Amino acid sequence: MNPRRPRGSQRSYDPLSQLVFLRSQGEYVWDDQGKKYLDLICGYSACNLGHAHPGLTAAMCEQISELTWAHAGQSQLRSELEETLGSLWDQNASANMLPQGHSKVWLTVSGARAIEIAWKLAYAKRPGSTIGFDLAYHGRSLATAYLSDTERSEAIGPHRQAKAHATIPFPRHLHGLCASILAQASGDNADQDALCSECHRALEQARQTFENLQARASILFVEPAIGARGYYFAPAMFMQQLVALARSYGLAIVSDEIQMGLRRTGPLFMCKGQGWEPDLLVLGKSLGGGILPMAAVVGPDDWIDALESGLESETFAAYPVACRVALETLQILQTPNLQWDIERKGEFFRNLLSTRLPHPLITLGTGLACCVSFENLPHGGTAIASQVVKRLADQGVLVHLTGPKRNRIATIPSLLIPKATLEMAAQNILQAIDKSMDSGCNLG
Ligand SMILES: Cc1ncc(COP(=O)(O)O)c(C=O)c1O
Repeated sequence: MNPRRPRGSQRSYDPLSQLVFLRSQGEYVWDDQGKKYLDLICGYSACNLGHAHPGLTAAMCEQISELTWAHAGQSQLRSELEETLGSLWDQNASANMLPQGHSKVWLTVSGARAIEIAWKLAYAKRPGSTIGFDLAYHGRSLATAYLSDTERSEAIGPHRQAKAHATIPFPRHLHGLCASILAQASGDNADQDALCSECHRALEQARQTFENLQARASILFVEPAIGARGYYFAPAMFMQQLVALARSYGLAIVSDEIQMGLRRTGPLFMCKGQGWEPDLLVLGKSLGGGILPMAAVVGPDDWIDALESGLESETFAAYPVACRVALETLQILQTPNLQWDIERKGEFFRNLLSTRLPHPLITLGTGLACCVSFENLPHGGTAIASQVVKRLADQGVLVHLTGPKRNRIATIPSLLIPKATLEMAAQNILQAIDKSMDSGCNLG
């Protein structure tokens, strides 16, 4: 039980679940004992612009005195947000693609709901069963748990009995990446041989699954990099080939960028940064600036209009105050050089870590999505990873324990974090790792 929340539900495995917070600002949060922490979790990307960004809070306060409710969600702000998001998606063609046509946007209140809506839309266009990665997390609602291949999903509801969802492997790259995660970095025509045998095996297994299910399956759910299930990354080339393969079998592609989109990895849309495009893009988390819930599905107009009326609605979808904060968020995310800055800071951070990490720990990532893996330790690294997270919290740094075996540590800082703060964070992380390894060489 958490003594600070005696009447709250308790259901977290998180080693930080005993903390209760009072205040947050920028890169920092304070707990109810007044202790200050550098937040390298940021709501798993919900607070991409840090906590309480002054531009966002000002916009929210201004909006509250203007319009807080619109019948059926029909506000001018909603229209502006749909226009902004749709045209950003249309304009942001990747290097080897022409700009798309006219996209539309469906706004909703959470990542899980957005995935469900994308599923309904995709199903309306291409009825059939679903396929997703074996390392997938698309939410914890009844429907999205079905798509999330976690050991815990079994316990959520009876639908697992009728398992029509198939999985394909996402490469783990336990010893490091074989090629670049973003297309720009690798050059668009990088050598196909650059992909490692694990990537080739995963593509072959995907091909077999698509072949076996071609009469039945119609929708492929992907994440361009795995977020909630452990910060696993694959090369742009792998994703390009997988998507081309899926298209050759007529599958609709839904890209879940709830955690990795909106500049977490640098580009505004990670799939485009990798040189491929889905039929439907799903955004969430930081679209609401870490302040108000907001999520979206973006796609061609005939896909977004594919549902008959009455098949989807929500009371708080496109709530005007959330639309205003989302518009402001998108404005800030278009700041010139922001992508470059994020990519440069990410590289700097990972270089600091990788040059000093003890063997066999590795660091992986792109932009400011970064992870340290303890998986190669002889006993799997779970105990050490958990100890590092707790030690860092004692030192005033919050990092996220993740991975199916909880032996990976994700660092998800504010995209606006100063380089010097990242440097200090890297030192703290390395110290905590050294101490935990010294004190627990038998913990694995
Ligand atoms: C990749 C991904 N998809 C979907 C979700 C679900 O979003 P929400 O918690 O807003 O329902 C999450 C949340 O962590 C996520 O990381």
